[in-house]
Amino acid sequence: MIKQISHLGVAVKDLEAAREFYRSVLGLQSSEPIMSEDGRMQGSLVEIGNAVIELLQPLGSEGVMAKFLEKRGEGFHHICYEVDDMTAEVESLKAKGIEVIGEPTEGIEGLSVFLHPRGTHGMLVELVEKNK
Ligand code: CO
Repeated sequence: MIKQISHLGVAVKDLEAAREFYRSVLGLQSSEPIMSEDGRMQGSLVEIGNAVIELLQPLGSEGVMAKFLEKRGEGFHHICYEVDDMTAEVESLKAKGIEVIGEPTEGIEGLSVFLHPRGTHGMLVELVEKNK
């Protein structure tokens, strides 16, 4: 079951510059940069009331984030829904014919997996089961 929106993912070229923008222009604090497990990107979470924006910067020229930035430039990247049971959710989506990209992996907030925009009316969707 989907519980709520966990965060909105935003692709940025330079995480430090983006964090500085959120801090000095918008007056919002962000978490210290967190490296992804594969080392291909780093992220930082900006909390705004009950909402969270995830800033993501690719490291190097390989990987999906680097390809996204190259093709589309900076900006909105994905919406992330929090689920209570990742295994059940993935199983149910697959049964409904939705394209799940790979297997769930440990991300910034917990166990995470992406759904291909082909099956979601154009949105790159992330699901996360938060670490308890
Ligand atoms: Co995300």
